[in-house]
Amino acid sequence: MKPKVYIARSIPKQVEAYIAEHCDYEKWEEESAIPREKLLEAVRDVDGLLTSGTAIDQELLDQAPRLKAVCNASVGYNNFDLAAMKEKKVMGTNTPSVLDDTVADLVFGLMLAAARRIPELDRFVKEGKWEKGDDSPLFGLDVHHTTLGIIGMGRIGEAIVKRGKFGFGMNVLYNNRRRKPQVEQELGITYAELDDLLKQSDFIVLMTPLTPQTENLIGRDQFKLMKNTAVFINASRGQTVDEDALYEALSEGQIYAAGLDVFRDEPVNPANRLLTLPNAVTLPHIGSATAKTRLDMAMCAAKNLVDAVSGRTPANLVEELK
Ligand code: DGY
Repeated sequence: MKPKVYIARSIPKQVEAYIAEHCDYEKWEEESAIPREKLLEAVRDVDGLLTSGTAIDQELLDQAPRLKAVCNASVGYNNFDLAAMKEKKVMGTNTPSVLDDTVADLVFGLMLAAARRIPELDRFVKEGKWEKGDDSPLFGLDVHHTTLGIIGMGRIGEAIVKRGKFGFGMNVLYNNRRRKPQVEQELGITYAELDDLLKQSDFIVLMTPLTPQTENLIGRDQFKLMKNTAVFINASRGQTVDEDALYEALSEGQIYAAGLDVFRDEPVNPANRLLTLPNAVTLPHIGSATAKTRLDMAMCAAKNLVDAVSGRTPANLVEELK
């Protein structure tokens, strides 16, 4: 008998076909996110679950006595209650590596868009406001040959460094819970304490996973340390930043601009004040959203799933559950 799994999010056909070769399965057929009660019902008799972002907590685990593995189609796994999963001996996997360059590209897109005011000036042109004469009100900031500060030096951080250092001639500082001497040497980057990084950087990129230690990492005190010309980028998770403090920093000119791929509530509440600011570039959490990368992520999650429910150790078991 094949193991039984539930696919709780949409995945490409070829990934579904791969799962079908190895498992019996049911899946959530709709485009909208699966409602919690449907998910709780669906996990009752399955060995594995493919998902992303859904809370995997005590309540869900209690409903799923056969569950052996939850496989996220994302690199982030802040949706896992790691202690509860460990207790129930449920494996948890993510999709590292396959999305690094795609997310790093998007981070540079946000840096360029925010510094050179690309979305704002795109609207300006389309609204017929472009006239001959003094164009100094349209000036932005240079990205090249400035200082880039990256908070969170994982694989995506390294991909950002390469672009900054070798493409844009930037000086790169980083902060990470563990210092990485080999990366410092290989890529020519400098470790800085968080406050120093915030004071010295022209571009500050938040790329850290969401953990109890990084929740609200950047708030009023941190924005106050930044240069008035700083551009702040968040491509990690919304909960790492105090959004009220960010709004104040942007609207009061404490910092120059922000590029945000993530929000505390997603989809973002249309009434969120950050959406009213011309100097905040706002995206719907699309760091990894290219067709190729999303296919690679879904396939990576599917392989983890099949391995886990077939009695093999999946390649991307998350560190805390090893
Ligand atoms: C992830 O995979 O966790 C990213 O946030 C997706 O963009």
